[in-house]
Formats: sequence, structure tokens, C-alpha cells
Amino acid sequence: MDSILVKGNGALSGRIPISGAKNTCLKLMGAALLTDEPLTLTNVPRLTDIDTLATLLQSLGTEVARLQDGRVMILSARQITDRRADYEIVRKLRASFNVLGPLLAREGEAIVSLPGGCAIGARKVDLHMMAMEKLGATIELRDGYVHATAPQGLRGTVIEFPFVSVGATENALTAATLARGTTVIRNAAREPDTVDLARCLSAMGARIEGAGTSEITVEGVDRLHGATHRVIPDRIELGTFMIAPAIAGGEVELVGGRLDMVSALAAKMEEAGVEVSETPGGVKVRRNGNGVRAVDVTTAPFPGFATDLQAQFMALMCTAQGMSRLEETIFENRFMHAPELIRMGADIDVHGGVATVKGVPKLRGAPVMATDLRASVSLILAGLAAEGETLVSRVYHLDRGYERIEEKLSAVGALIERVRGG
Ligand code: EPZ
Repeated sequence: MDSILVKGNGALSGRIPISGAKNTCLKLMGAALLTDEPLTLTNVPRLTDIDTLATLLQSLGTEVARLQDGRVMILSARQITDRRADYEIVRKLRASFNVLGPLLAREGEAIVSLPGGCAIGARKVDLHMMAMEKLGATIELRDGYVHATAPQGLRGTVIEFPFVSVGATENALTAATLARGTTVIRNAAREPDTVDLARCLSAMGARIEGAGTSEITVEGVDRLHGATHRVIPDRIELGTFMIAPAIAGGEVELVGGRLDMVSALAAKMEEAGVEVSETPGGVKVRRNGNGVRAVDVTTAPFPGFATDLQAQFMALMCTAQGMSRLEETIFENRFMHAPELIRMGADIDVHGGVATVKGVPKLRGAPVMATDLRASVSLILAGLAAEGETLVSRVYHLDRGYERIEEKLSAVGALIERVRGG
């Protein structure tokens, strides 16, 4: 299994291109199941998670063609040949559970494996099932699979989520596009991913209002058609690379990134003493010779501080002046990076959902590993400013969500390389 070797090398300088958004693209791909015409996606990131979902969609009868080095993907679900999403794939990629809404809406039946828990928390799917039941489906749990049926089709309804769930909002939204009548989704996710999904569905003929607000209204239509849609830039990749020069020093422009998608992070970085500005081509981050100040962060649904950036921000706070309090409110077990950062010399205390980080003058390189994508990348960021070598193993997590990370960081002066089979 590959590892990544990082050596602290001083300030970073240059430009990093931001790829298409993984989490958005996964949901857009699932939407292809809603129509018998081709859906063409551009700005597709080249990541193993994208390949995994493509394999699942193919197993359901979707033809998947990739052009321009994988950047363009044409998905044609002319005929659904299977309504069952297998455990072997769903357990690897939880976003696969989002084929439930499209399959059920188009076919009147979907059999989708329960994804099970994962490293960051239990990650239940009860809200997804509640939404499908509200839309008129009958749900049964058998042998670890959700069997959802609606032989007469789905019907519009009011779905009120008790708290914000990105995935459940998106499953409800896709399913409602083909339901009879009007569906109102209350306490809906406002994440840019959900807004982009709504935009793509609208281009396919769906009638959607309110995406980006807490209440989305969907007027069901009889059928959707093909479309061409460009995937939005990845705000979590952007946020991750914004933190790199904040940790290592220097000035980096994130080309293609959108500041409006990471405003909560930008505000916290500015509070810590890092300069963040919008450029005609993206976002620029600069840290002068002084270090950063400790600031507190509480994760929240969009437009709040993203849970997917909490680990990276903790890496930054490890060498900040003062003490910071990082509170994780979305997932119950999302501090797995803390013990690894401690191995690099960080001073962190975790109690329940709160981590207290006392800044130390310097981190030291160490062999480390992490059990999820964002935790892994936080260790790479920490390694950029550490004395000596940091070897991050279990790199397959990184390949799920960061395209060519070692090339992108090398291009701005980081000493980082992939160690094959290490
Ligand atoms: C999406 O996960 C993202 N994944 C996650 O990114 C991200 O961390 C998360 O949203 C929050 O922003 C994709 O889009 C593929 P949720 P999702 O439903 O949709 C609980 C990454 O690193 N919940 O908003 O699964 C749940 O357990 C990943 O790229 C229920 O209890 O997240 C969590 O505590 C990791 N019942 C909270 O809600 C449900 O039915 C929010 O989860 C659904 C969710």
C-alpha cells in the first residue's frame, strides 16, 4: 500500500488548481438514473470514489463513458437492468446510498444495502428512509438491505427534517422530481453540493425552487431529459489547500476556487492572522513571517464551518499562539487525527465533542496514519511545517478525495512524494 512522505521545507509559493467537487459529482452521477437520456458531466475529478460509484451505476445498467482524460463523463441509463445496489460497493462508498431516491422514483423499486457505520460515526440513514416513506414508498429492512417500493409511483408531500442532513436532503430532492404533485422539504441542507444538484436537475427538466435555502419546493414532472452540467469546484479541497500556506508560511493562489463557498473558514483564518483575498481567478492566501493566533471553531451545516475542514484546521492550530477550542457537532467520532497529531508533538485534549489544542512552537515528523480522508490530509498539512520527515500511511483514503495531492503540493514548493507499496 502506498504512503506519502512529507518533509518540512519552509514557505510555499505558487498556484494550485482546484478540481471539481467530489461530493457534488457523486450526487450528480446518481441523478443520471432519473432519465433514459444521457447526462454529460464536465470538470469531473479523477478520484477512486468517482470510479467506485461509476462501477455501481454500471451494475444497475448505466453506460458510463469517460472522455478527455476522465474529466468528462457521459452517463446513459437508457434502461435500468438491476434495482439492487450491492453491499460490496455501498459499504465502500456511503454516497452510493443516494441511488435510492433516483431508482425508486424512476422504477418504483429500489433495493439498496444499508451502508453500516464508518470511522467518523454511526452515520444512520433513518432520515433518508423517513423521506422515502413520506413520499409514499413502503420500506422494509431485510438481510441488511433497504427494500423500497412504490408501484404506483411517488407522491408529493411535506418532508420536515429534525436536523440538517446533506445526503437525506439530496435523496429526497432527486426522488421528488418525478413524484406526482408538490413536495416541500423543510430544514433542507443548504450546502453548495445540494444547490449544484438542484441546478443540474433543473437543467434536466425538474421544477425546483428554494435550493440554497432551508425550504426547497419541488413540482414533480412526468419525465426528465438529458443535460450537460459542469461540476462546481471542490470547496473542501480549496479549504485544505488554503490551510497549507497558513501552516507552512508563504503565499498561494488557489485557481478556480470560490471564496463564497468557504467564507466561514476564511473568517476564522483571518481571525488567526492569515490574509485571505479573492482574485480574478480564485482565492489567494498569504501568511507573513509571524505565526498564527489560536481561534475557536464549532462545526455546523453550511454556511457554518464545515466538519470536513475541522481536521485540517486542527493541524493549523497545533502551532498557533495560545489555546483553541474545536467543537465537532456533526459527527460523533471525528477526532481520530488528534492522537496522530500528538505523536508529532501536538498538545491536544479531547473530551467528547470538544478538542482543546495548546499551540506548541514546532511539530516533529513521525510515521502516522489515519482512518478517514480528512484526517489523513490533516497529517500531510502538519508534516509541511514539521521538523524532519512525516510518513503518512493508508494513502488510499487520500486517493478517494484528493486528486494528485503530491503533485499539487510539490508545485508550490512542498517536499512531498508518494512511496509506492510502502
Ligand atoms: C455528507 O455526508 C458528505 N458526504 C460528508 O463528507 C460531510 O462530512 C457531511 O455531508 C456533512 O457535511 C457526501 O456528500 C458524499 P449528513 P452525509 O447526512 O450526507 C446524521 C467527506 O469527508 N444522520 O449531513 O452522510 C449523521 O450521522 C465526507 O467528504 C442521521 O442521523 O452527512 C451525521 O451525524 C465525510 N440520520 C449528521 O446527520 C440520517 O438519516 C449529518 O450527516 C442521515 C444523517
